[in-house]
Amino acid sequence: MAPRMNPCAYLPRRLQIVASLTAFVLLCFLFLGTSTSDATVDPYLAQVPFAKQLQSGAHQVVDNLPHLPKDLPYVTTPQWLNPFRGPAHTPPPEQANSSSGEARWYSDFKWRNPFSSSVTLDEERAVLPPLRVRPPVYTYFDAAGRRKDDKSRAAEQELLLIWRRAWWAQGFKPVVLGRPEAMNNPQYRAVQTLELEPELDMEMMRWLAWGNMGTGILCNWLAVPMAAHNDPLLAFLRRGEYPHLTRYEGLDNGLFVGGKDDIDKALKAAINNPAVKRVKSIVEAVESETFTVDPEHDGVAFYSTTTITSKYLAIKEKLADPATTGDGLAMLPPLINSHLHMTWQNTFTSGIAVLKPLPEHTTSLIEPAIDIARNLSQCSDTPIPASCPPNRPRCKPCVSSQMLISLPPVFRNTSTLFTIGTVPHPYTLTSLLHTRDDLNLKFIRRETSRDAWILAATKELLGTGLASYARLVSMKEAVASDYGSARSLWLTAERPPSVGSARDLEELDWTFGFRLPREPMPNGHSETPVPGPERRPPPPKQEFGDGPVPSELDLVREKGLLEKARMFVRNGAGGRSGGGGGGGRGAGDEKQQQQPAFERTRDVVEAWNLADTEAWKFVRAWNARRRIERRRWEEEEEEFSKGVFHKWIDRIT
Ligand SMILES: *[C@@H]1O[C@H](CO)[C@@H](O)[C@H](O)[C@H]1NC(C)=O
Ligand SMILES: *[C@@H]1O[C@H](CO)[C@@H](O)[C@H](O)[C@H]1NC(C)=O
Ligand SMILES: *[C@@H]1O[C@H](CO)[C@@H](O)[C@H](O)[C@H]1NC(C)=O
Repeated sequence: MAPRMNPCAYLPRRLQIVASLTAFVLLCFLFLGTSTSDATVDPYLAQVPFAKQLQSGAHQVVDNLPHLPKDLPYVTTPQWLNPFRGPAHTPPPEQANSSSGEARWYSDFKWRNPFSSSVTLDEERAVLPPLRVRPPVYTYFDAAGRRKDDKSRAAEQELLLIWRRAWWAQGFKPVVLGRPEAMNNPQYRAVQTLELEPELDMEMMRWLAWGNMGTGILCNWLAVPMAAHNDPLLAFLRRGEYPHLTRYEGLDNGLFVGGKDDIDKALKAAINNPAVKRVKSIVEAVESETFTVDPEHDGVAFYSTTTITSKYLAIKEKLADPATTGDGLAMLPPLINSHLHMTWQNTFTSGIAVLKPLPEHTTSLIEPAIDIARNLSQCSDTPIPASCPPNRPRCKPCVSSQMLISLPPVFRNTSTLFTIGTVPHPYTLTSLLHTRDDLNLKFIRRETSRDAWILAATKELLGTGLASYARLVSMKEAVASDYGSARSLWLTAERPPSVGSARDLEELDWTFGFRLPREPMPNGHSETPVPGPERRPPPPKQEFGDGPVPSELDLVREKGLLEKARMFVRNGAGGRSGGGGGGGRGAGDEKQQQQPAFERTRDVVEAWNLADTEAWKFVRAWNARRRIERRRWEEEEEEFSKGVFHKWIDRIT
């Protein structure tokens, strides 16, 4: 057993619990006098009305003392030690759409509590940070007046997809508007009577549609966010409050922000301007004071005709000839996608860290993470390999610099390092570390150390002296804080994307904001100077991290154990969630009688490794919520775009 800081470690387990309880109750009473001064420690907790809750919490602990649960594994759960939970024994209500498969969660400001169950009163329900509100970013797309050849149409659809994916990954809610929204605007009739030049007419339509939706961002669908997550412009846009109608120097009509009243006012001014028939844009049609101009920004790349003409000559030539317009347009999606990918690579100059704590027996465990890391460090297919995005002329093209993949045994909080972490369920980890698939209660208690994963992973960040549950807060921050989530990707070992469906792979694209390269070889672009088959970088040199190089036989055995553990954990968790919402524990007990050995073992392992289990459930819920959020949005969008599509058909025929 690993050395621990618990001073009661030499006591029998039952006594340990009673001792820590007593200590806690005493502390609580000591604490009550000074609770107000402690309220400043954490900005999230500061919002909790402290002293009152603490008091009722303390009473509860006292109330609870005589009813110690009889089942040992559960006793160690600190949920009833929590001073912050409400006065009644009621778990917080289920939130809408807060489960997926076996994962369940509860979104709340109290997510920094080490143990979720202290808030949810439910072992299976993880507390996640509140979902960030995504400010809408609108684009206007009207297929009616456009070129009709199939190539152009396919390219336009792909460009819309790239636009939506890039804005989604940066924390926005992209919305494609069409003529119906413009016609919904009360000022639509006034514009119709003006008989404007087509260019301004189109621009008016965009504004009418925008004004119809209200406050927000109006963006051309060839303008995508092309910067790190913390770019000042993107951070400002993400705030969702736009006090002035603003345009951005150098982006022409690519990007505007503003409030509903300001938009309406500008539209009205443009309509009432007698000179409106002679101008080409809204900006020219209104007084210059109408807009605030932001002169300095580089977070958004706009692939306007002007930009393409001056920067991407290969595309310009194709577009200039009517016979090859479609081909020219078809070059844009891979170009923009490769620029998005390259910008991401340029952000993480320290490379990608594939976390490998306890390197001795976890080579197969991190294989999916290495697969993702290799694809991320690869160069995306592009028609103009050494080109830079319009907003960052001094980029480092992918072909000229290789991203480094490392396998550190500890998590490092470096802002230029992207971390891919794989969190194993403690059952999986124990099975691999001890090379056995017949774990039983006696073995676990006598032979295994607790919370091995989190202790190892945070050894550098938090030193060796801290108890495992105290490490959870940092771990959760690394996964889910604004800062951490932009610099890391966390997988559970039992459900990595490569084991899941093709949809899971696509999910990664939406997380990163570009399509990850996943073709083994480039298809037919032999004229590009990018090296062909070697384009996928080799596996990292020290593939086994700090651990010894395993033999073939070791690896085969490890893979077998991992497969078995995956089955075990997935089946087990599925069985438990079948019990349903509120009566989690009761249903669990019932199940336990049906499949005693199976359920028992998992429960014992989880109770023995409380912090590792918590970390695993947190990551599982975090990923599930991300998937659900996007799928729900996609369903809404599908309904909407079906409508738009029918309207297109109406216009075309
Ligand atoms: C939950 O999701 C379903 C579709 O998956 C949707 O119909 C329903 O409105 C959602 N519930 C809430 C309250 O958002
Ligand atoms: C990592 O560093 C950032 C900035 O230095 C800090 O805000 C954040 O809390 C750190 N994250 C962890 C998990 O320690
Ligand atoms: C990575 O690329 C390979 C082909 O090179 C592909 O088989 C695999 O599915 C890709 N993985 C991910 C996670 O994109």
